[in-house]
Amino acid sequence: MTEIFSLARCRVYLFRSIMFSLISFSSTYALSKGTLDIETTRVEQGEKLAFDRKSGNCLACHAIGLGTMSGNLAPPLFAMKERFPNPQKLTQQISNSLLSNEDSIMPPFGLHGLLNEDQISKIVDYLYTL
Ligand code: HEC
Repeated sequence: MTEIFSLARCRVYLFRSIMFSLISFSSTYALSKGTLDIETTRVEQGEKLAFDRKSGNCLACHAIGLGTMSGNLAPPLFAMKERFPNPQKLTQQISNSLLSNEDSIMPPFGLHGLLNEDQISKIVDYLYTL
C-alpha cells in the first residue's frame, strides 16, 4: 500500500517538475524573442527613416549599407561604432550638423524639425549596425 502511494507521489512530483521547466522555458523563450523583435524593428525603422526620401533621405549624399543610388557629396557611413564610439556625438551630427561644421550642407535634421528625437535615435541604432 505504501509502495503504491509513494509511486503515485513520485509521479506527481515528476509531472510537476516537467510542467515547471516547460513553463519557465517557454516564458524565457517568449521574453528573449520579444526583446529581439523590439530591437529588430527599431533598427529596421531606422534604416527605413534613413533611406526614405520623404524623411532622412541620407542616401542623397551618403553611401550607406545596402542603400542604392546613393550620392557622393558626403563621406560613406560605415564602421560607425569604431568611428563614432560616443552615441551622443553621432546623434548631434544628425540633429545639428552645424555644430561640427557651420557651413555644412547636411540639413540639421533635429534643429529644423525634419526628424524628431525618437526618429533620430532609431537612425543612430541602425547606423551602429554598419
Ligand atoms: C545634403 C547632403 C546630406 C544629407 C541629405 C545628409 N548628410 Fe550627412 N553629411 C553631409 C556632409 C557634406 C557631411 C560631411 C561633414 C559636413 O560637411 O558637415 C556629412 C556628415 C555626416 C556624418 C559624419 C560622417 C563622418 O564620417 O564623419 C554622419 C554620421 C552623417 N552625415 C549622417 C547623416 C544621416 C544619418 C543623414 C540622414 C538622416 C544625413 N547624414 C544626411 C551631407 C549630407
